[in-house]
Amino acid sequence: MSEAGLKSPFGKTMPQIDPLILLRAIDQSSSLIMITDPVGAIIYVNPRFCEVTGYCVEEVLGQNPRFLKGDDGHTDYQQMWEVLTSGKEWCGEFHNRKKNNDFYWELASILPVLDPQGNTTHYLAIKEDITERKQIEEKLEQTVAQATQLAAVLEFRNAEISQQRQELDKAYSDLKMAQSQMLQREKMASIGQLAAGVAHEINNPIGFVSSNLRTLDKYTRRLSGYIALLEKALADSPAWEDLQSERKNIKLDFLLEDTAELIEESLDGSERVKKIVQNLKTFSRVDQAEEQATNLNECLESTIAIVWNEIKYKAELKKDFGELPEIVCNPQELTQVFTNILVNAAQAIEKNGLIKVSSRYDGHAIIIRIEDNGCGIAEEDLSRIFEPFFTTKEVGKGTGLGMSISYEIVEKHGGDIQVQSVVDEGTCFTLIFPLERAPENSAAAAKD
Ligand SMILES: Nc1ncnc2c1ncn2[C@@H]1O[C@H](COP(=O)(O)OP(=O)(O)O)[C@@H](O)[C@H]1O
Ligand SMILES: [Mg+2]
Repeated sequence: MSEAGLKSPFGKTMPQIDPLILLRAIDQSSSLIMITDPVGAIIYVNPRFCEVTGYCVEEVLGQNPRFLKGDDGHTDYQQMWEVLTSGKEWCGEFHNRKKNNDFYWELASILPVLDPQGNTTHYLAIKEDITERKQIEEKLEQTVAQATQLAAVLEFRNAEISQQRQELDKAYSDLKMAQSQMLQREKMASIGQLAAGVAHEINNPIGFVSSNLRTLDKYTRRLSGYIALLEKALADSPAWEDLQSERKNIKLDFLLEDTAELIEESLDGSERVKKIVQNLKTFSRVDQAEEQATNLNECLESTIAIVWNEIKYKAELKKDFGELPEIVCNPQELTQVFTNILVNAAQAIEKNGLIKVSSRYDGHAIIIRIEDNGCGIAEEDLSRIFEPFFTTKEVGKGTGLGMSISYEIVEKHGGDIQVQSVVDEGTCFTLIFPLERAPENSAAAAKD
């Protein structure tokens, strides 16, 4: 040992120190300390080592440290020896066995002790007993694994619940829709019944009123002819002057002329009433709830007549009907569709509007267009107008059912309903009814 001090294995010069102090420090260290010769035979272990492993010094000296080795292959010994024989420090963990066969964990740092020529003279192992930490780590790992498993189960349950919720929501909205459709159908049926009743009641009196009017017309013509004859015959009679003054008095010319006009006007009126009665009958079709061959132009005509009151103060109505073949359909339901679209068109117009209704047959399908120049539909609403209960109208005015029911009816008929709209410019509904329906949309399928 030189005067200058002790040279550490790392080549640093330490202040001179009594080797006994070093030995005491090692003896009293709370780490497990072991020194082996270059071939790995143990030449020193400190008391802490004996305390942890249960071996006494005599049992250990001369042994290779591998006698402590557990059998679970936790440590890569080959890699450890590669590091140590290259003169470097190795750090790692051992899973070792105590004298009483209990396993314990060590966190070890092993260092080759080199002589001034760089040859390994000893190995120094400083190790900590980390069994407790390992147990805690293991428990933590188990807990994390359990928590992960639990989270996965929870996630699965959540997905199940949200799916069930979706199904429930759908069932609820289907139920709501079915209920409102039933209500709407019942409403339409009772309106139809009422209309049919009114039509029936008016039909008889208007029949005899117009027939009587025609007879009255004939009679007054005959009477005026007879008066003309009388006047001619009495032209030379002494009563002629009195007759003339009375004629003037009662304004006979005006009377005869006006009577003819009154009768003509009344006949006109009664014809109109007859037409309304006819339309009411077509509209109600209580007796025709089943599918039947129908001319959709007639359906449109009667619907327009019925909703005319909604339209006439707000818009002009232009009809452009092409020749249509009859189509097998439920006319009462299609009347409901046309009513819904026409009422919406009228409601979209404030005043001085225009509603165009056209029909065409293109060889395969009947195409009906109902177009208005009203307020239009905002783009974000366009995809929602067929949703049940979607309405942009104030409470009391809109129920949001008209379009959804129309959609369902058109679909049931194997048809298609399309909408185009520009805000502030107007809206156009196009209804397409193929003459030949796919089998699943036929009346027979619908009854299943
Ligand atoms: N011709 C139209 N012009 C403007 N908006 C329309 C037209 N037709 C339908 N809509 C829009 O579609 C919505 C749904 O229509 P509908 O189902 O008949 O319900 P409601 O008329 O009771 O509101 C209406 O509130 C309206 O916003
Ligand atoms: Mg509506």
